[in-house]
Parts: sequence; C-alpha cells; structure tokens
Amino acid sequence: MANINQFKSCILAVSSVLAIISGAAYADAGEAVYKKNCMACHQANGQGMAAVFPPLVDNPNIKDNPEYIAETVVKGKSGAITINGATYNGMMPPMAYMTDADIAAVVNYVNKKFAGGSKEISAENVKAIR
Ligand code: HEC
Repeated sequence: MANINQFKSCILAVSSVLAIISGAAYADAGEAVYKKNCMACHQANGQGMAAVFPPLVDNPNIKDNPEYIAETVVKGKSGAITINGATYNGMMPPMAYMTDADIAAVVNYVNKKFAGGSKEISAENVKAIR
C-alpha cells in the first residue's frame, strides 16, 4: 500500500514539473516572437519610444484586450491613439504573414508581461479575427 502512495506522489511531482516546463516554454515562445517581430519598434522592455512608438507597458488600451492586440498585429494600425494622456499618431504595418500560433503567443506575452493582464487568446481565436 505504501508503494501505491509513493507512486501517486511521484505522478503528482512529475505532472507539476511538466506543468511548470510547459508554462515556461509558452512564455519563452511569446518572448521569442516579440523579439523577432515587435522589439525593433516597441523596444525590448515594451516602453516604446516617446512620440514615435507607443508603450505596451502599463497601456490600458491593451490590458486584458487580447482581441484588440491580435487585430492590431493582423491589420496594422494608423490614426491617433492616446495612452495615459500621451498622443501617438504613427503607422504600424500589418503583420498578417505571422502564424496564428505566433500571434497568440506574442499577444499573451504582451498582455501579461507588459500590460499586466491575465486574459489569454488561442490560435483559434486569432484565426477568427483575420
Ligand atoms: C515598424 C514598427 C512597429 C512594429 C514592428 C510593431 N509595431 Fe506596434 N505599433 C507601432 C506604431 C507606430 C503604433 C501606433 C500606431 C498609431 O499611432 O495609430 C503601434 C501600435 C501598437 C498597438 C496599439 C497600442 C494602443 O494603445 O492602441 C499594439 C497593441 C501594438 N502596436 C502591438 C505590437 C505587437 C504585438 C507587435 C509585434 C507583433 C508590433 N506592435 C510591432 C509600430 C510598430
């Protein structure tokens, strides 16, 4: 009987390690996609560049609004936007060539890491936005 309990706790330990690993891999995927596709303008730390590239950090327009972030990536963005009282009026090119999975990963990364949100979007959701 002791063996059964040991077996159970072993399974528990293994599955929690796996959950941690897959969570980390997901975050890393989003970070890698960000570095490749977004960092040149929004900067590594998501702070953007004053008056030119808007910040993603502490940006209330995008916090827990993953559909909006995904739509911005797919369709691009132009026209005036206001973030915490600062106005930006630039042009972000559409990046519809990115895969649904890459867009979902980067949207979740940006929402959680920079905007402080928690709502997630899936690759299926991204497909529906196109
Ligand atoms: C070539 C530069 C450039 C790249 C690359 C770029 N952006 Fe942007 N992004 C901008 C500019 C400029 C704006 C502001 C557009 C405007 O003023 O209407 C913007 C706006 C945004 C907004 C809307 C912010 C708001 O408050 O409404 C989001 C979200 C966003 N970008 C996310 C991303 C993500 C995610 C990526 C990578 C997949 C990315 N951007 C890549 C230049 C860029």
